Amino acid sequence: MPLTNTKFITDIVKQAAAKARQEVSNEPEPELTEPISWPVECTVGPGLEGAIACETKIGYVNGTRGSLIYRGYDIFDLCAEASYEEVSYLLLHGNLPDADALTGFSDQMQEFRLIPKTLRLIMGFPVQDMNPMAALRMGTNLMRQYQTERDQVGAASAGTKVIASDDDSIPMEREKTGDRRAAFEFSDRNANRPRRRAKAKREQAEARGLESCYHLIAGVGTLTAAIERVRMGHMPIEPDPELSHAGNLLYMMTGRRPYPVEQRIMDICLTLHADHGMNASTFAAMVVASTLSDIYFSIGSGIGALNGPLHGGANEAVIHMLNQIGSSRRVGSWYKEARANKTKIMGFGHRVYKAYDPRARVLGPLAEFLVERSGRKDMQKLLATAKELEKRVIADLGERKGIFPNVDFYSGIVYSCLGIPPEMFTPIFAVSRVAGWTARVLEYLKNNRIFRPRGIYVGDLDRPFKPLADRG
Ligand code: CMC
Repeated sequence: MPLTNTKFITDIVKQAAAKARQEVSNEPEPELTEPISWPVECTVGPGLEGAIACETKIGYVNGTRGSLIYRGYDIFDLCAEASYEEVSYLLLHGNLPDADALTGFSDQMQEFRLIPKTLRLIMGFPVQDMNPMAALRMGTNLMRQYQTERDQVGAASAGTKVIASDDDSIPMEREKTGDRRAAFEFSDRNANRPRRRAKAKREQAEARGLESCYHLIAGVGTLTAAIERVRMGHMPIEPDPELSHAGNLLYMMTGRRPYPVEQRIMDICLTLHADHGMNASTFAAMVVASTLSDIYFSIGSGIGALNGPLHGGANEAVIHMLNQIGSSRRVGSWYKEARANKTKIMGFGHRVYKAYDPRARVLGPLAEFLVERSGRKDMQKLLATAKELEKRVIADLGERKGIFPNVDFYSGIVYSCLGIPPEMFTPIFAVSRVAGWTARVLEYLKNNRIFRPRGIYVGDLDRPFKPLADRG
């Protein structure tokens, strides 16, 4: 099979879709798809299970059926037909782009992929000794320099252009040294039309907000690749304007221009991870945004939350677990012991899905394809172990507890076959999810209300205070 034949990959996705559609219906859950009026009644469990935090038009995870929708489109159709650029645009804007809009968006992404000043700053830190997710989170802070109005001295009179740290210009002073008011009136033709001015201001703010989202979607890819390069003792590689986001991610990480098949598979991986309801990292990003902090802080918080092994960090943990099991023959005894110790099996289970995760339905066959193509014995062993483990877990916990493979179970095998080390699996998850984070933050801010749940206080209420000297 030639490495240029991407149709073969599309067929794999379509076969996975056909199988899923045969096994489960797409029927939505009424209680989660019909408009509500606040306050809403819901039953809330620990970890906010069941809590309704907002209405959204961005995406829907049907946990009962095991289906996933972005802006009305089935994830299988998006994987089969769309690029990550189209999917990011869709999430942010609500509609798929036409050819002109896609070109505009891709050009903007290309521009924002170049973050030389941020890379120069990050290379002043010991990136090679850092957890890549910590480095990535720091990188989003560095991307933020000069980009947000909040950081400008004397911040933000309306209509002034925010100067990005990555523009090739020297950041200019925005406050005129003369009479500020006069300068403002001189440049503002709508000065005597307060309502139009307010609308223009709002539109400018929205455009700036969107621009920051584009900046983050593009820049987090470059940062991730640069972190990997520095970890490996190399210099970061400049993005190639001829390559897509997925292609650039692989190229800037490995230093090798990917084959069309590899690029296509990475594109599908990015699409599959781009959004997923009110998951922990999305919620973290939204909570930070709801305080009217800024999008860079929000995305940094998303990265922090994604890092944990119960969330995005599970993809790395899966590979370590499979290596620890060692072979398909050892799965039985390993599993018995894990169950006896009540160990969570990484890459299985989900708060929302009580059915097979549709993302795993795509990633499993892609992993099989890549492993077969690679001819690598170590990968064949890993995949055989994974397959055997999947059988065991489903036989034991599938029907009984609704525990099936999730997105993280096969993604690590796919990434390994693409030459990516385990430490970079979770950062790649972040590269993709930044589209969902930014889209959801923008949507929430349109009707923002600060997130502020309460805890039930179960501590003491009237302890008499003892001065330090009396405390024994
Ligand atoms: N292995 C074994 N048992 C499990 C697993 C698992 N992976 N997941 C859930 N269970 C059992 C759990 O022991 C509990 O059983 P019991 O009712 O007897 O106490 C029951 O299922 C409910 O589990 P829970 O931990 O209360 O479920 P949760 O909704 O709080 O947690 C989860 C969801 C994803 C954190 C959990 O399934 C888990 O820890 N999975 C392993 C880590 C993982 O793969 N995470 C990636 C999730 S998908 C991608 C992402 O979100 O980033």
